[in-house]
Amino acid sequence: MPKVPSVPDRQHPRPIRVRVLGHAGTAARTVHDYAHGCMLMRLMQTSVSAVPGTTDPGVLPRDAAGRIPVAIIGATGYVGAELIRLLERHPDVRIVGLAARGRDGLPVGAAFAHLDETGHRIDGALPTSSDVAAVFLALPAGASAPRVPELLARGLAVVDLGPDFRLADPADYPRWYGFEHPAPELLPGAGPGAAVYGLPELHRAALAATRLVASPGCYPTAALLALAPLARAGLVADVVVDAKSGVSGAGREPKLETHFSEANENLRAYGLGGHRHLAELAQELRALGAASGVVDAVTFTPHLVPMTRGLLATCYVRPSHPVTAAEISGLYEAAYAGEPFVRLVDAAPGTKHVSGSNAARVHVRLDERSGRIVALAAIDNLVKGAAGQAIQAFNVVAGLPETSGLEQIALYP
Ligand SMILES: NC(=O)c1ccc[n+]([C@@H]2O[C@H](COP(=O)([O-])OP(=O)(O)OC[C@H]3O[C@@H](n4cnc5c(N)ncnc54)[C@H](OP(=O)(O)O)[C@@H]3O)[C@@H](O)[C@H]2O)c1
Repeated sequence: MPKVPSVPDRQHPRPIRVRVLGHAGTAARTVHDYAHGCMLMRLMQTSVSAVPGTTDPGVLPRDAAGRIPVAIIGATGYVGAELIRLLERHPDVRIVGLAARGRDGLPVGAAFAHLDETGHRIDGALPTSSDVAAVFLALPAGASAPRVPELLARGLAVVDLGPDFRLADPADYPRWYGFEHPAPELLPGAGPGAAVYGLPELHRAALAATRLVASPGCYPTAALLALAPLARAGLVADVVVDAKSGVSGAGREPKLETHFSEANENLRAYGLGGHRHLAELAQELRALGAASGVVDAVTFTPHLVPMTRGLLATCYVRPSHPVTAAEISGLYEAAYAGEPFVRLVDAAPGTKHVSGSNAARVHVRLDERSGRIVALAAIDNLVKGAAGQAIQAFNVVAGLPETSGLEQIALYP
C-alpha cells in the first residue's frame, strides 16, 4: 500500500486517502454540537473535523500535525494498556483521549507504571476539546454493542476488541454471550455499514471498505491462521484445536482462577462445555469453505498456562483426501507469502518467539505415521491476539501501511 505523505496543514485536517465506499453507514461526517451525558455520549458528541472539499466517507481526518486522532475506551484493562503502548509510538496517529469508568484525570502511570512517561491521563469521559477520528473499544462482552451505532453515526471509525460485532448470526449472542444484540443490522454480512471480522489475513479487502472492525478473539486468531490454508483447500475432514493461553488472556480484573496460587504451577483445561470463541472459529472456518458437518464437529479445548502472555494453538487435522507434505507446504507458502506478520517456520513455534510483537509464527507438518496434519500457530494474545491486530486492521481501514506502528521485534528471553 503506498504511503501517503502527511503534510501538516494547520488550516485543514488532511485527508489521508480518498476512497469511495458504497454504503450509507459510513456517510455521516459532520461536526456535532456538544451537549451532555455519560462518558460515551460525550465522546460521541466530540467534534470530528470535516474534511474540506470532500464528503467522501473513506477519509479519516488528521490533526494539524498530520496524525489521525484516536481514543481508547477501556483504558484501564490489559488490552487498553497494550493499545496505549503501541499507539503511542504509531507514527500516523495521536492519542487524544483515554477513558474508563469513574476516573477523573487519573495519570496513566497510576494505572500502569510502565506507561507513566506517556503523560496521558484517564478520564471518565474523553476530552471534548480534541477531535477524534477513530475509537478503540476494549470492553467486556455486551458493553460495546449499545454504544457503537451512535459512534458510527457520527462518522467515527470504530475498532471493537470485544466480541460484540464478531458473530454474523444475532441468535449467537444470547446463546454464547447471554444478551440480545441491540444492533443486529451491524453484524458481519448484515448489509451496508456492517462490521467486518478484523483478521486482515482473511478479510483485508472488506476491511478497506468498512468503518466498523470486529477485532477477533485471541484463540480464533491463532487457530484460523494455523488452519486457513487447509480449510480453503477443502482439506479439513475433522479437526481438534488444542490451545493454550497465558493468564493475561483473562484480563486484569481479579478472578479466583487467575489468582496467583490458583494459576501458578498449574495447567488446566477450561471451557470444556463449549468456549465462546468456538462460535467465531466455526463461523470463519465455514466462510473459508469448510463443510458444515466438519465445522459442527470441531473440538476446541482451551487451557490456562501459568505464564503471563502468549498463546499456542495446536490443530490436529484429519485430511479429507491423501496429500503430500510438499503439497501442504505449498498451500501455506501461497497463503502467507505476502503477509507481513505471519512467519512460516520450519520448527515448532514458541510463545516467547512472538512476545510483545504482532507476529504469528505458523508451522505445519504431515504426521506420516498417523496421516494427520498438525498445524500450529504461536501469537502474543495481547498483541496479534488483541491490540496489535486491532491496529493492523485500523491501518487497513485508514489506508495506512499495514505495518505502521507494529514493527516491534519480539522480546526475548
Ligand atoms: N486479554 C486478552 O488477551 C484479550 C485478547 C483479545 C480480546 N480481548 C477482549 O478485549 C476486551 C478487554 O479485555 P481485557 O483483557 O483488557 O479486560 P480487562 O483487563 O478486564 O479490562 C476491561 C476494561 O473494560 C472496563 N469495563 C469493565 N466492565 C465495564 C462495563 N460494564 N462498562 C464499561 N467498561 C467496563 C474496565 O474498566 P474499569 O477500570 O472501569 O473496570 C477495563 O478498562 C474483552 O472483551 C476481551 O474479551 C482480550
